Amino acid sequence: MKVLHISAECYPAAKAGGLGDVVGSLPKYLNKAGWPAGVVIPKYRSKWMEENKFSPIFKGAIRIHNYYIPYIIEKEIGDALGFPLFVVDIPGKFDRSGIYNDASGRGYEDNVERYIAFQMAVLQWISGSPGTPSILHCHDHHSGLIPFFIKHCPDFKSLGKIPTVFTIHNGEYHGSFGWQNLYLLPWFEQGARGILDWNNAINPLATAIKTAWRFTTVSKSYLEELKEWSNGLEWLIQHEQYKSVGILNGIDTQVWDPATDSYLIHHLKGDPTSFKNKNKQVLSRRFVFDSRLPVIAFIGRLVREKGADLLPDLISKVLDNRTKVVFLILGTGEEALMDRLWSMKRYYPDRLDLALEYNEELAHQLYAGSDFLLMPSRVEPCGLNQMYAMRYGTIPIVRSVGGLKDTVVDIDRDPENGSGIRFDDFNLEDGQRAISRAAVLYAKQKTQFEHLRNRIMALDYSWEESAANYIQIYKQFFS
Ligand code: GLC
Repeated sequence: MKVLHISAECYPAAKAGGLGDVVGSLPKYLNKAGWPAGVVIPKYRSKWMEENKFSPIFKGAIRIHNYYIPYIIEKEIGDALGFPLFVVDIPGKFDRSGIYNDASGRGYEDNVERYIAFQMAVLQWISGSPGTPSILHCHDHHSGLIPFFIKHCPDFKSLGKIPTVFTIHNGEYHGSFGWQNLYLLPWFEQGARGILDWNNAINPLATAIKTAWRFTTVSKSYLEELKEWSNGLEWLIQHEQYKSVGILNGIDTQVWDPATDSYLIHHLKGDPTSFKNKNKQVLSRRFVFDSRLPVIAFIGRLVREKGADLLPDLISKVLDNRTKVVFLILGTGEEALMDRLWSMKRYYPDRLDLALEYNEELAHQLYAGSDFLLMPSRVEPCGLNQMYAMRYGTIPIVRSVGGLKDTVVDIDRDPENGSGIRFDDFNLEDGQRAISRAAVLYAKQKTQFEHLRNRIMALDYSWEESAANYIQIYKQFFS
């Protein structure tokens, strides 16, 4: 194995968001391009882990403070993902069903210790096994201490020369913790203390940016945005930009294929209009809405970052204004926001319906059956949903930010190559104007609407090009 991806998520084994999708698909395309890649994640007690088979390949114990914590590295034996998947079984730390949160949505109190244990176990395993990977590719703060550990901890020094890549999928979360928790870390050279620090706390995201050989963001625009706003890391990112690159994510076109998607009953068989109509009908089994009107879906976490807090007022404004559209919302998130949306439902029968849950199957059905997908994100490092939507013939309505800016071209700005509707400012007026444009396109510009739909379905957002960009980085380490 040349590249080992170290991550908290990997679809379908464990997914909380887009990080899982990316780590679950990029390695497939690296393998295809001749760069054997595997993934290691913690062994959560999820349904997927129970349904699949693993065999133990390594046993060890790490020491945190005065305690020895035994662990087992296992390999998935059915090749379910199309690349080697390793899991770290650490009883007491990961034998819970949630990834980061308990069933009520609260973050586990020992998350800091959990991911430190995970990272230490991974390093102990690879330093004690033959066939060390040539590159360690870490994703987000949960594996952000790895580049530091191999450089500055005597226990892992044998790995110190392995090149490291760190990818930022979400710079909002730093995983930082107070210096009073220093005792959780493995012994390191004392001169390196400052490397862990950012604003008087131990900051795994900042540490990764400082110590990884290269760091990447999941779109070019997001890299530029992080230099302006990254929750306090702005000047660090500016300072380290010489080793940074923005690489847009691809999508897994095997999982996201309207012609074969196993979650759908009606597949794409040449005629997009009939595919869309049939799938819209399927949606009416789950949602109550007027199916003569265009469906605008919101799919994702109901949190500020995704601009979900704009939804209640935006929906009221649009519907009170008698704009002829329907809103269907799928996702969970902030309690107050979910309550508010729920209470709005009865004022707009036929026009607003909700599924306040995480539901992968329903998400696929919504991409297939909706006419538009709304993404009013405040921040969007890449965004995969707009790409899934396009492939399934659903026109994205997005705020011009991060990866949304890099993947959606406004149809008014470029009628020939446009791929959706964009709005610039995060406010009700801009959002409402974008939705009105969608309503007009659907009701009054039928031919243009259909052309646009056919065009976006044919766009290529597959991984090949992005994987080639990562390989470009990997190659530089050995030249
Ligand atoms: C995070 C980001 C999202 C990105 C995904 C995969 O979930 O919020 O924009 O697409 O990671 O990189």
